[in-house]
Amino acid sequence: MPNTATPETWRVKTVEHIRPSTRDQRQQWIEEAGFNLFTLPSDRVFIDLLTDSGTGAMSDRQWAAIMSGDESYAGSTSFHALHEVVQDLFGLEYLLPVHQGRAAENALFSVLVHEDQLVPANSHFDTTRAHIEFRKAAAVDCLSSGAYDVTDTNPFKGNMNLDMLRDILQESHARVPFILLTITCNTTGGQPVSLANIAAVKALADRYHKPLVVDAARFAENAWFIQQREPGYRDTSLRDITRQMLGMADAMVMSAKKDGLVNIGGFLATRHREWFDQATEYVILFEGFRTYGGLAGRDLAALAVGLEEVISADYLASRIGQVQRFGQRLIDAGVPIQQPVGGHAVLVDASRFLPEVPREEYVAQTLAVELYLEAGVRGVEIGTLLNGRDPESGEERFAETEWLRLAIPRRVYSNDHLEYVAQALIDLYHRRSEIRAGVRIVEEKPVLRHFTVRLERKTE
Ligand SMILES: Cc1ncc(COP(=O)(O)O)c(C=O)c1O
Repeated sequence: MPNTATPETWRVKTVEHIRPSTRDQRQQWIEEAGFNLFTLPSDRVFIDLLTDSGTGAMSDRQWAAIMSGDESYAGSTSFHALHEVVQDLFGLEYLLPVHQGRAAENALFSVLVHEDQLVPANSHFDTTRAHIEFRKAAAVDCLSSGAYDVTDTNPFKGNMNLDMLRDILQESHARVPFILLTITCNTTGGQPVSLANIAAVKALADRYHKPLVVDAARFAENAWFIQQREPGYRDTSLRDITRQMLGMADAMVMSAKKDGLVNIGGFLATRHREWFDQATEYVILFEGFRTYGGLAGRDLAALAVGLEEVISADYLASRIGQVQRFGQRLIDAGVPIQQPVGGHAVLVDASRFLPEVPREEYVAQTLAVELYLEAGVRGVEIGTLLNGRDPESGEERFAETEWLRLAIPRRVYSNDHLEYVAQALIDLYHRRSEIRAGVRIVEEKPVLRHFTVRLERKTE
C-alpha cells in the first residue's frame, strides 16, 4: 500500500439515501423535538453521529449468514457457532446471548449486585451505572483527572486510576462485589486501557479476592490501540491481545452493537458455572431461552461472523484511521477536542468551544443543537444532562467535562461525509462568540432523563 492513511477497506454494494435539509426546516424540527436530538425523527437528520451503537453496516458475509440462521427455539446451530467463536476469541466457557448490552448487565448484576454495595470501575457507561443504582448500590468511577483534560496526551486515558481503586478496596472492600473495567472507555471518547493496567487491576482484585468483570463493547478497538501504542505488542496479533485482555476476566458483558458489527445483540460470558446458572434463570425470565436470549437465530449467526471480521488488522486500521483523520482535521483548525482521538468518537470540549454559555444551561447540549441547525448533523451530549441528578439529593451532577460526542458508525460514512461534518463544526467555531445562551429543562424523568427530556432555548 502507498504510505498514506488506510482508506476504507470496504466498498459499497447497497446504498441508502440520506436527505439534506434547509436551516429553516431544521429550526422547526428541533423545536418540535423539544431541543432533544434523541426525539428527532432520523429522516430529519443528514449525517447521524448520535451513536456508533447498532448503526454499523453489516458485510455481505453477515447478510449471507442471516439467510442460514437456525431459528430453532432450543440448541440452535447458530448459537453453537457463536459459542465457538466466543470461546475461541475470549476464552470464556459459559455464554448467554441477550438482546443488547444492558440486558447482559442486568442479568449479571442480578447475581452480583446488592443494596449498599459499591462497584468501582475505570468508568461506568450510563446504563451500567443505572443498573447498579437501580439496585441501590453505588457506581464509583476511578479515572485519573488527566482523562478529562483534552490537552493530556496520555496514550491510555481509559486506564483505571490504581490509587483510587486501592483506596476503595482498603476502606470498603467488604462492600465491593467485583471490579469493572470498560474497554475502551466510552465516557472519555473511546480511550483505551493498556494491558499493563488491566494486569495491575487484576493483581489488586486478586489481593482482595474480588472478581474482575470487563465491559467489552469495544474490545477490538482496545486491542488495536494496545498493539499500536503499548511497548512490546507491535508483533502480537490482535487475537492474542484479546485473549490476554479477557484472560484476566471472570466475566464479560458485551453490547454486540459495537464491536460485534451487528445492529442488535449482546451477551454475557463467564468462566464461573455458578454465575452462569443463576444468570440463566434471570435470562429465561426476561429475555428468552438460554440459547437465544431474545435474539433471532439469524442475529446470532450474523454476530458470529461479525466477531471474526472485527478483529481483522485491515478493518481496524481503516476504522480507527478514519476517526483519527476526522479528529486531526479539527485539531488542525484549533477546535478543542479530546486528545489523543479515541477509537469510535471525537469528543468536542463544549465549555471551551462556547465559553459564554454557563454549565447550568447545558453547554454541550447547546452545541449539539447548534451543529444540527448548522448542517443537519446529529451528535450527542455527554455531560450534565446525561449525568442526571443525584438519586438521594436530587441535585444536578455537574459533569467533569461537557462533551459533544460525534460517534462514528462502523463502515457507514465515507471520509467525504466526515469532511463535511468537520467543515460545519469549524464554521461554527469561527462564529462561536455569537452563541451566548443555552437551553433550560421543561420536562424530565428521574431515570436516564437525557432520552426523553424536553428543553427550551434560553434567550440572553
Ligand atoms: C461501554 C458500554 N457499555 C454498555 C453499553 C450498553 O449497551 P446497549 O446499548 O447495547 O444496551 C454501551 C452502549 O453504548 C456502552 O458503550
